[in-house]
Amino acid sequence: VRVYVPGDSSAVAVGANRVAHALERLAREKKVEIEIVRNGSRGLYWLEPMVEVTTSEGRIAYGPVAPGDLAGLFEAGFLSGGQHALRLGRPEDIPFLKNQERLMFARCGITDPLSVEEYRAHGGFRGLAKALRMQPQEIVSEVTESGLRGRGGAGFPTGIKWKTVLETKAERKYIVCNADEGDSGTFADRMIMEGDPFLLIEGMTIAGIATGATKGFIYIRSEYPDAFRQMGRAIEIARNTGYLGPNVLGSGKAFDLETRLGAGAYICGEETSLLESLEGKRGVIRFKPPLPAIKGLFGQPTVINNLLSFASVPVIMDDGANFYKNYGTGRSRGTQPFQLAGNVKQGGLIEKAFGVTLKELIYDFGGGTLSGRPVRAVQVGGPLGAYLRADQLDIPMDYEAFAAVKAMLGHGGIVVFDDTVDMAQQARFAMEFCAVESCGKCTPCRIGSTRGVEVIDRIIADQDRAKNLRLLDDLCETMVDGSLCALGGLTPFPVQSAIRYFPEDFDKPSRKAAE
Ligand code: NAI
Repeated sequence: VRVYVPGDSSAVAVGANRVAHALERLAREKKVEIEIVRNGSRGLYWLEPMVEVTTSEGRIAYGPVAPGDLAGLFEAGFLSGGQHALRLGRPEDIPFLKNQERLMFARCGITDPLSVEEYRAHGGFRGLAKALRMQPQEIVSEVTESGLRGRGGAGFPTGIKWKTVLETKAERKYIVCNADEGDSGTFADRMIMEGDPFLLIEGMTIAGIATGATKGFIYIRSEYPDAFRQMGRAIEIARNTGYLGPNVLGSGKAFDLETRLGAGAYICGEETSLLESLEGKRGVIRFKPPLPAIKGLFGQPTVINNLLSFASVPVIMDDGANFYKNYGTGRSRGTQPFQLAGNVKQGGLIEKAFGVTLKELIYDFGGGTLSGRPVRAVQVGGPLGAYLRADQLDIPMDYEAFAAVKAMLGHGGIVVFDDTVDMAQQARFAMEFCAVESCGKCTPCRIGSTRGVEVIDRIIADQDRAKNLRLLDDLCETMVDGSLCALGGLTPFPVQSAIRYFPEDFDKPSRKAAE
């Protein structure tokens, strides 16, 4: 019997390794033959460790399983899908999963992450095989036509970026994957690297074939040691099976990959700092222009994309641009893995076409807050994303709809807060975060953020409130207009949205009266 126990680091954090070891020991004692597969997570994190067994009805899931539950599970005959209080039935019938549209995450949690055979059996490497039969221009056109926009948050058309690199003449070109997933409440990049690493390898290889780059780097944040190891193993396997190397699948085209580990700086998720760091220098941002597409890694034309952008490409190549662009709304085409975190009952990964509302994600998928108290604020798009109020949740997940309310989708992270949140403290935290993480190159970000913390402290202490609120507004305007990159340029968004939508939290006399 095949038993799946996720090796995903979030599942491991809640005991998946202990469950796997106990399972092995019990099976030995009971002389039952089992094969344990350490799959990725399905992204139903409140049910982890979620153990699945293969039965005549298909896969049956149990969860969340603790080592102490295993004796009872054996007694209940769980290896053939027996009844038990933890039995969840077929994973694909669980509404959280059933109501998703999984293109990028089609395999994650289902296959053995390091099995090329299983990757292929589930449609893997078909996009690459097709790309190898096409001209570079045709690949780039297909990606452009699909409407794919950069999943790091800026939403720049991926095909246009690739076209710039393709058309820039150079001896060497590079493909760089930004897997420095630093946004609060995000984990989709990690899930792919741990649960379906060949998908990233395939996407990056297609980018190489499309632009004439023969070398790629995956820059992984230091907080992801498991993902780093898993990616390294997958690259080795891909090399040994002919998917990477001097002659990709016998095409005569070369492409190879290496991983690099970051050192814990949020700013290294900004593309030019990331490139500096990859070159072995301190992570400080570069002036743009020149764009990395023209002068990037080691001064060469470089496709630098977010992991999720690369991971979207195999399905576009395999099923075609028309298939892909049928998903979505307006100018936001395709699907996005939304990551639901914070004070939420059912946290996890929801891949859905753009256009789903924030409310549907938080209530229909997430089941509301974990505390059971009312939702008060939601931050979308990481620590630099705006806060939204509970009455704004009908907003569709769509780049333009978010921009219209001075908010952003970012990398798809959603953090939910209940009515115990103090929004003045959240605003202060945004400025403090910027002060701590600033690379120091430009003054508005480096000094503005420190002054910002001080001004917010004075507002909270009710010192010259009106004057300091005006001062904060001025400071925010300077940071937005004068910062060299998105760190200083976007920090005002959480600050000003907190003031705009939750003014009562910045008004000490009225807070005191309320208490
Ligand atoms: P940007 O708008 O300057 O650039 C977006 C991308 O398009 C870059 O890769 C840029 O090099 C490229 N580009 C622009 N014009 C081009 C052209 N003509 N040809 C080829 N390539 C071109 O945005 P930036 O500063 O890279 O990112 C800001 C965004 O980052 C924010 O909107 C925010 O959503 C997001 N963000 C994401 C975080 C994460 O952890 N994923 C964290 C913080 C911010």
